[in-house]
Amino acid sequence: MKKYLAIMTGIIILTLTACTTAQDPASPVMETVSVEALLASLSLEEKVGQMLQPERSAISLREIRNYNIGSILNAGGSHPDDDPLSTFNDWHAMTREMQEAALSSSSKIPLLYGIDAVHGNNNVYGATIFPHNINLGMIQDLEVIEAVARATALEMTALNMHLNFSPSVAIAHNIRWGRTYESMGQTSEIVSSRMQAYLRGAQGIIVPTVKHYVGDGATDQGIDQGNASISEEALRAVHLIPYIDAIAMNVPVIMVSYHSIEGVKMHGNQYYLNDVLKEELGFEGILLSDYNAINQLEGDFKAQLITAINAGVDMLMQPFNWKEAIELIIIAVNDGDISMDRIDDAVRRILTVKVNHGLFENSVHPLNESIMYSEAHHQIAFEAASQSMVLLKDELNKPLDELGTLFLTGPGSDHVGLMAGGWTTEWQGNESPRIGVGRSIKEVLEENHTLASRWQDADTVIVVFAERSYSEWFGDTPNPSLLEGLAHPDNRAALNIARFAKAQGKNVIGLLISGRPLILGDALDHFDQFVAMFLPGSEGGEAVISLLNHDIPFTGKLSFYWPMTTSGLDYNAIQNQHLFPIGYGLSSNPQD
Ligand code: BGC
Repeated sequence: MKKYLAIMTGIIILTLTACTTAQDPASPVMETVSVEALLASLSLEEKVGQMLQPERSAISLREIRNYNIGSILNAGGSHPDDDPLSTFNDWHAMTREMQEAALSSSSKIPLLYGIDAVHGNNNVYGATIFPHNINLGMIQDLEVIEAVARATALEMTALNMHLNFSPSVAIAHNIRWGRTYESMGQTSEIVSSRMQAYLRGAQGIIVPTVKHYVGDGATDQGIDQGNASISEEALRAVHLIPYIDAIAMNVPVIMVSYHSIEGVKMHGNQYYLNDVLKEELGFEGILLSDYNAINQLEGDFKAQLITAINAGVDMLMQPFNWKEAIELIIIAVNDGDISMDRIDDAVRRILTVKVNHGLFENSVHPLNESIMYSEAHHQIAFEAASQSMVLLKDELNKPLDELGTLFLTGPGSDHVGLMAGGWTTEWQGNESPRIGVGRSIKEVLEENHTLASRWQDADTVIVVFAERSYSEWFGDTPNPSLLEGLAHPDNRAALNIARFAKAQGKNVIGLLISGRPLILGDALDHFDQFVAMFLPGSEGGEAVISLLNHDIPFTGKLSFYWPMTTSGLDYNAIQNQHLFPIGYGLSSNPQD
């Protein structure tokens, strides 16, 4: 344990000194650029350009310059020249050119390059892939989360990216939801404490976003972008809490959710956006819409824009129809449908975030390839992965070395892509076994063990189950279980091997790679030891083997209730009937 603390302190000092743009978000606005003077100098066209966030592939350098674009979206799975294997140099060159285009516009205002670096700078092939948020929820040492956020931010700035659409502060109350793994847990205490750690690590290096406002994890049956039948009282008591805590930390950006509350889409909900978030809670940052989300509002595009902007949206993530949006907003202002005050308020917020972040002084950084998947970041990813795995059952309490000949099987046993999950290189995840970083469980295990080629010849059988990779609504399922829903089709054969091996008196260890706790039926009966790995990222293989070796102790605790049946998945039901409660997690070697 002490050795670990020394390593972590070293890492934190190292990453702090490596940080180049540090601005304390709580410190007064930098005086080098006056927001008010700048705002007063802008034409309506220049102001509206600041409010748009087109997708990188849908805008040219000339258009960035001519339209005074305020921000660029790098969508999940969008890469320079549409090449998923783009080099760090390709990324850096692309973002630099875009920034230079913005700086040569009539307003000369630098742009915010936004990306979903939700578990490391995960769109970039070769970046460190940290565990997903669900894993961060299981970690007890919050300094590790801070280190993850800091390292992610450094792998962004190395490539001139400043705006992260992370952390999600969703409180996933139904694991049928495909975005469960983007949620850090099922209580506001767990989510807020981890979000605070995340913001401590990220702020000052990049501009973080908390999302998706508010109650995205509360939809009925966990349907992505669905409707939440929830009272205001319940929403305030649980789902609003992380936002209150984020505003207390001066969070610069909040992203609005796609879903509806009692039938009203959040993007048009003036009460929650303007009255609650901005006026009551005092949020002074940028309220960002989600990808094409305003197109889900009623009316034609112009009406949708008017509704969203008047409800409080400041920046519009309209990846493709951004040009039309600019034209329509200008018409709406000229017609009096959107007031100039509302435009000024939105642009003031955008400029203030840019000034506070030091973007006017520091918008292009030298390419720092050595920080990408550096030894220090690899070590942080390892710590985070190992501290986030939860030991659910242990009747062995022996390290691997004492378990004789090993046999390894199952869809997750030789697969880094499945350990990384959604939002890895591609939006839906990278389903290849090798993703350029990290090692599979098999690769790590083979370093010190000669594996049996048939389970019949082994003393101990290790079975690695997996869920397929997915993101957003692709991950919704009515039946989130070990063998159904998004479960890997090979789980069934793997479970059969476990059953036979157990019946023959062998030691059987189960490892589960999944974006949520899965209904296990009676599967645990066939295992002597069972570990929930969730989505541990590139270093998951090294981490789980170190834990099974007893080189380090299990410390992860569940931040979700572990379900028993499909009938008991909604939050009210699961609190009363579950396999394991929140907070559960065994320790393999208590002497540590
Ligand atoms: C997601 C957001 C994400 C955005 C940009 C949307 O579909 O809901 O979480 O930040 O895309 O990639």
